This record gives sequence, C-alpha cells and structure tokens, in this order.
Amino acid sequence: MLKIENICLSFGKREILKNVSLHVNEKKIIILTGKSGAGKSTLLGIISGLMKPDSGTVFFNNQNIFKWSDLKRSRFRNRGMGFVFQFFSLFPEMTAYDNILYPAIFNPFTSKNIKKEISELVDFLGLSGIIHQYPSTLSGGERQRVAIARAIVNNPKFILADEPTGNLDNETTQDIIKLFIRLKTEKGISTIIATHEKKFVRIADESYNISDGSLTRIDGKNYKKKSATETQSHRV
Ligand SMILES: Nc1ncnc2c1ncn2[C@@H]1O[C@H](COP(=O)(O)OP(=O)(O)O)[C@@H](O)[C@H]1O
Ligand SMILES: [Mg+2]
Repeated sequence: MLKIENICLSFGKREILKNVSLHVNEKKIIILTGKSGAGKSTLLGIISGLMKPDSGTVFFNNQNIFKWSDLKRSRFRNRGMGFVFQFFSLFPEMTAYDNILYPAIFNPFTSKNIKKEISELVDFLGLSGIIHQYPSTLSGGERQRVAIARAIVNNPKFILADEPTGNLDNETTQDIIKLFIRLKTEKGISTIIATHEKKFVRIADESYNISDGSLTRIDGKNYKKKSATETQSHRV
C-alpha cells in the first residue's frame, strides 16, 4: 500500500534522513522509535506529502505522491490517511461530535448516512456519552479517542500517529494501544506510530529505530540480521 523509497532529507548541512526505505502493507502496526530530534516527525511529514524529500519518494498504491498536484495530495491527506498527534489538535470551539464530523465535510464521497456512521464510530470508540462536550471538558484519553474518531471518519487506509500517548498516563496509554489493535483487526487500518513508548514495540507487527538518519529494524519477528548496507531497505 505504502512504499517509502530511499528518502534523503537535510536541513541545511544536517542530514536528517539518509536513504530511508520502508514498505507498509494493509493491517499492520509499524512503530518508529528514536531519540527526540531523530527525524520521526519529519518522516511522517514526508509520508503525508506535506514535506518533500531532497531525493527518494513515497508511493501510495503504486502512485508517486510527489508527482501529484497539491490538490490531489491534500485530498490524499483528507481521505487516504488520518492523523493523530500528541496534543490531540482538536478544535476547541467545536464539540467532540463536530470535531469528528469536520473532515467528512470536505469529502465529496461522504455518505448520506454520515450521521449513522459517526454514531457507529462513536460507539466503537466508547464515546457515546461525551460527544456533545467541548474538548476542554474531556479527559486526555477521551480527547485522544475523539481525535482517533476524526482521523478515521473518512475511512482511510492508514493512520499516522505522532507520539499519540505522549501526554497520557499509563492506563490511558494501554487503552489507546488496544484501540490501534482493534482498528487493525476490525477495520483493517494500518497505523504508523512515532513513539518513545517501549510498550508499543510489543504489539507492533514491525518496529524500527531511527538513529543518525538511518532506519533499522529492531523487532525479532521474521527478521534475520543483515549487513548495514542491506538494512537500508526494509521490504515488508
Ligand atoms: N523545518 C525545519 N528546519 C530546520 N530543521 C528542522 C525542521 N524541522 C525539523 N528540523 C530538525 O530536524 C530534526 C528532526 O526533527 P523531528 O523530525 O521533529 O524529530 P523527532 O520527531 O524524532 O523528535 C530536529 O533536529 C529538528 O530540529
Ligand atoms: Mg517528533
């Protein structure tokens, strides 16, 4: 579904990403770890098409997203993927319900049954009691579940989650982890999660570390140690 091929990006003289490749199939949870400043958010920004690499590219369903028009890339961000952030990024002046509905308003393929779909989504995420509340009146975990509902309202193939539990306590972190697993198993959604949380590595289908600009696979599953040059490319 997603093929990230040989991405290089520098800011000035600093090489942030060096020849990073990653293939993401459907129904996968992929974890990206790495120290603060390692380039995790930058890589997510490139996958979303918001940031253009110096070289290398991203293919979505075999199409090079950097050959698309800006309009097509922004539609891809609206419908092809969902975003989840550390600080939730909900609109404070909108209720939880309106936050969830918002991306669907810009989607011409939004079904006439959107109200019913949102109500199913809200049940799925255990949010029925709070959808008429404003973000400031919600707990961190509720805010993140609202943000996840908003991320998947347009039925994307994958979610990019940037430190999604960075602002949550342990128990709430576990709830959000379980939720990403349910999104995978029950809705077939892949999630790419940039995180410091070691807990995520246990539930991941694949885990990687970014260090000195290079991506290295760190989980054991089906993974033979390869030479440094071979690990530049990770076929999934
Ligand atoms: N627009 C930018 N201009 C210059 N440097 C940037 C820019 N965006 C990010 N950086 C730098 O790139 C490095 C990687 O940042 P980032 O991807 O946010 O790291 P992470 O998410 O792993 O903490 C950091 O050192 C950051 O300061
Ligand atoms: Mg970051």
